[in-house]
Amino acid sequence: METSKITIAVDGFAACGKSTLAKALAKELGYVYVDSGAMYRAVTLYFLDHHISIEDADAVEEALKNITIHFENVNGQNHTFLNGKNVEEAIRSMRVSNFVSPVATVSAVRRAMVELQQEMGAKGGIAMDGRDIGTVVFKAAELKLFLTASIEERTRRRLVEWEGKGITDISAKEVEKNLSTRDLIDSTRADSPLCQAEDAIEIDNSLLTPTEQLEFALQLSKDIIEKKATGLVTN
Ligand code: DC
Repeated sequence: METSKITIAVDGFAACGKSTLAKALAKELGYVYVDSGAMYRAVTLYFLDHHISIEDADAVEEALKNITIHFENVNGQNHTFLNGKNVEEAIRSMRVSNFVSPVATVSAVRRAMVELQQEMGAKGGIAMDGRDIGTVVFKAAELKLFLTASIEERTRRRLVEWEGKGITDISAKEVEKNLSTRDLIDSTRADSPLCQAEDAIEIDNSLLTPTEQLEFALQLSKDIIEKKATGLVTN
């Protein structure tokens, strides 16, 4: 392992721009990028398609044995594959978005995903975004960022995303309800709830452009990488 490579954990509420930032940081630094939310979304898609009830512990355990998730670069974009099939579009649907938070409360699901995430980041040189990356998955990450933004701004950004995909039949109200319901479930669940790690740096990006946010986070990363290279940061 290159000793100066660090682990970057990006956590925060739904639609705070975590993926945008983590992806851009990974690109700038030549690191691996992992969207951990996509993994919970892929599991959710499998459960929906196979009518797996999250109340049925045996069915959940069995289903998890039959799920493989990996990421591939498709035309320069990071795509999610479930059992060898590209599900990038399907996992972003409202059908999945409305069910993913309850699925992510299930401890067996979390255990399986966390194990996979830790394997992916075992060598360092990774930027991963999610809800429990700095608190559970990579507790020793050298850089932990916690993003926040107002619900109005997050709703606006998600709507723009949907519009960009040509989907215009989703109302602002529906998007806002999905985001706030997920935030509530994600931050109040018993197993690894979304919360800011004590050593995380909070960034409220409501009024920041993606470029301004990236410049700030990149400088933080470079400072830590330099300290690590000179032996000033040891983990
Ligand atoms: O990042 P996202 O909005 O695509 O994530 C979808 C859901 O997955 C989120 O509402 C909660 C869950 N999730 C989680 O519980 N832990 C993570 N590390 C990432 C996502």
